Amino acid sequence: MKSPRLPFVHGPTPIVHLPALDALVGTEVWVKRDDATGGAEAGNKLRKLEFLLADARAKGTKVVLTCGALQSNHARATALVAARLGMRSILFLRTEDPSAEPPWSGNVLLDRLVGAEIRRITPAQYRERAALMESAAQEAWRGGEQPYVIPEGGSNGLGALGYVDAMRETARQLALGLCGEIRRFDLVAHACGSGGTAAGIALGCARYDVAPAVRAFAVCDDAAYFHKVIEHIIVEARTYEPELDASATLVVDDQAKGPRYGQMSAEQLVFLRDVVRATGLVLDPVYTGKALFGLARAVERGDVPRGSRVLFVHTGGLPGLLASFDDPSSDMLAALS
Ligand SMILES: Cc1ncc(COP(=O)(O)O)c(C=O)c1O
Repeated sequence: MKSPRLPFVHGPTPIVHLPALDALVGTEVWVKRDDATGGAEAGNKLRKLEFLLADARAKGTKVVLTCGALQSNHARATALVAARLGMRSILFLRTEDPSAEPPWSGNVLLDRLVGAEIRRITPAQYRERAALMESAAQEAWRGGEQPYVIPEGGSNGLGALGYVDAMRETARQLALGLCGEIRRFDLVAHACGSGGTAAGIALGCARYDVAPAVRAFAVCDDAAYFHKVIEHIIVEARTYEPELDASATLVVDDQAKGPRYGQMSAEQLVFLRDVVRATGLVLDPVYTGKALFGLARAVERGDVPRGSRVLFVHTGGLPGLLASFDDPSSDMLAALS
């Protein structure tokens, strides 16, 4: 790939096989540890930011604007790497009550620590986030600062190249024999929140022959919505890298979203807990926990054949887990005790 890129990711990230996980999921699962792409800035977003911030730097950016939920992993990763490049950041974070100061925990703690400017907005304002960020960008222009706007989740064509590259990295690990005798997985599975990771993985799987199929587990919205969004990102990614002319078969599975965004069912929480206790692998309740739970259910239903060799991309999210006990009345506490 020719697109400029900054070397943020501590890679190649390991791919590990935990036999106790196979038993919990019902098939052979290898885990790509993209939760370990870095230190506090780690997670899947760092791969997208390698391309997005290379573009921002080339344009002389002084201030980066982005958005997400209050405990957005993407916003936190953006603020941390922007600081590394000497850029300040403005984060538009969605919360039910913007007047209430949120606990300084998880991602918010890191956002505060790095000095990001946090603008708390309502869910209704969040629906107008593109316009809100555009007007803040205009304000920065007028103040003499070159702005750079990154959409929700870093999910656009340029950001998706980060996951094309992750699949190139995976193909190399397969060729080196780092996944036993496996030379190609049957499936790549991962959590889907804004579609960029899915788009990049689908393109990268085809380009580097990592797997013929991808299953993206939606944590919000639904399959029809994500198919449209992901297709749009794929088309945009091809404007940067036209040789990405094929993509793996992509299924968006929206059956493991749980009660709502950011909240797990008791059954999902118990699964998350069982995974940690059996393997030491820590998932998060917003993304990866739901995705792996969804994979286990898909195997149970027969949608993913037993015996499939699956690469599960662990996309991070630990700070979100560490903030999920802020509310002492939360069901999380009871389910995990
Ligand atoms: C930990 C984690 N996993 C998965 C995702 C989903 O990735 P994407 O937004 O590219 O769909 C996100 C962000 O939304 C995330 O923070």
